[in-house]
Amino acid sequence: MFDRSRINAFAKQETPFYYYDIALLEQTLTSALEAADTLGFHVHYALKANFNNRLLERIRDLGFGADCVSGNEVRRAVETRFDPGKIVFAGVGKSDKEITYALNEDIFAFNVESIQELQVIDGLAAGLGKIARVALRINPNVDAHTHQYITTGLDENKFGIAQWDLPEAVETLRKCRHIELVGIHFHVGSQITDLNVFKSLCVKVNELNNWFDERGFRLRILNVGGGLGVDYHEPDAYPIPDFRAYFSVFGEFLERKPGQEVHFELGRALVSQCGSLVSRVLYVKNGIKKNFLIIDAGMTELMRPALYQAYHRIENLTAAAADNDNTDEPPLHYDVVGPICESTDCFGKEVPLPKTQRGDLIAIRTAGAYGEVMASRYNLREEIRYVYSDES
Ligand code: LLP
Repeated sequence: MFDRSRINAFAKQETPFYYYDIALLEQTLTSALEAADTLGFHVHYALKANFNNRLLERIRDLGFGADCVSGNEVRRAVETRFDPGKIVFAGVGKSDKEITYALNEDIFAFNVESIQELQVIDGLAAGLGKIARVALRINPNVDAHTHQYITTGLDENKFGIAQWDLPEAVETLRKCRHIELVGIHFHVGSQITDLNVFKSLCVKVNELNNWFDERGFRLRILNVGGGLGVDYHEPDAYPIPDFRAYFSVFGEFLERKPGQEVHFELGRALVSQCGSLVSRVLYVKNGIKKNFLIIDAGMTELMRPALYQAYHRIENLTAAAADNDNTDEPPLHYDVVGPICESTDCFGKEVPLPKTQRGDLIAIRTAGAYGEVMASRYNLREEIRYVYSDES
């Protein structure tokens, strides 16, 4: 991903920063769209993965919808001029203010996560003289086989309406004069690499689709959420996820009724590989049992390793660009840590790297999703900076 001239250009930049490869972003987006189009599927981009303006503009230009989980994400989507008719708003805890804002923007639909939320949206829509379009988010109790912190579709998770509450939800819907039920919505988790999970989801969606049909609800939309995983171990070998294989699971196993649309909400799969966190080595500390590389990026810039024990590939860019070919030398092993006053501020333990020195540039790969957006100002850190491939 990084050729010598790029690394030389980085050497002049203040670190840390997020680097976004815009060409790879475009290839990824196009590949996803082509695969979805073949089956007539619609894709909403999950803004939560990354709401950097440059990325959003490209995503909007290519015609994606927007999946938002807060009033401010809806606002960002509207301000970026995503088509309001393609904006959906999910989340277990939408405030009255957020709902009112989204109603006034005439977004396409609310993904509703509880019976009480249905009543609140109905009341607010009535006050504004509007009809709110909603999709019921149903907890399908499908195991995503991913990290427990990013599993969302099991009975023990807080998300969605439980299946045993559906008869009551339907009764409530019949009483809500300002709500139009447009579909059902699911999201079982994130970083899912076993496509069988999506097959199990399809089986559940079919069952529930029939259940609603039998009760006289003609659903227009089946929204199956996002969750497709990416390759954190070999980002250069697999820079673009296999969208064709992913969508074809739904093409094969989802039983659409006449006129029904299938919607997706992909985040990570679209933006992960185009982003890297670039940092400099501040200090090399050789202990008896450990060698530490202390770099100028911390958990404040990329929280995933500290929060989910997530693996990200770590590379020494300076060594990769150096003229002297020392590839025969065996790698050393370093714990790569940040400057934050927390022991969990660690990007990787025993990471094999060439001999590394103060000032070397380090890339932490596959950081385009849930990286910049989860940055914090803890320790009063600087605001995160970014560099785009077509501007540096
Ligand atoms: N739709 C809903 C309702 C969601 O909750 C999510 C992600 C998505 C779509 C997009 O999922 P994706 O395609 O990106 O997997 N911060 C965590 C991931 C949290 C995912 C939250 N929901 C991480 O860094 O791994």
